[in-house]
Amino acid sequence: MRIYPFTLLLGIWLMASNIAQADDEYELADSRGCLACHQLDMKIVGPSFKEIARKYSGNNGAESILEDKVINGGVGVWGNMPMHAGNIDKEEAATLVKWILGTK
Ligand code: HEC
Repeated sequence: MRIYPFTLLLGIWLMASNIAQADDEYELADSRGCLACHQLDMKIVGPSFKEIARKYSGNNGAESILEDKVINGGVGVWGNMPMHAGNIDKEEAATLVKWILGTK
């Protein structure tokens, strides 16, 4: 099979734009203080984003449950350590939750 330069370029562009997008969300999480308690694949104060994605995979209601939780805070799903209410608006919470659920 011959790979046309155009296809190759398109592939590179798609990869680059995916990475750029993930970076935006990582930066948003960073700027809202989430990364002080959450890492992608290691539990620190809160569960890792990948653990969260695995726990809720196949759960259709996950997005709205988790958006509420990110905005209002809560405790008891992962242990006794509470998450306080986030300094974050609804749209940003939705963006981050979608990103988190896609990290597994
Ligand atoms: C002070 C530490 C802390 C910060 C800051 C924090 N979290 Fe959490 N987060 C936690 C803890 C602890 C839990 C587990 C809560 C529980 O067991 O119910 C948690 C749970 C979660 C969950 C899973 C909720 C569930 O019910 O399963 C998500 C999603 C989440 N955090 C996202 C975020 C996002 C996005 C931010 C930034 C806006 C953030 N967290 C900031 C500590 C934190």
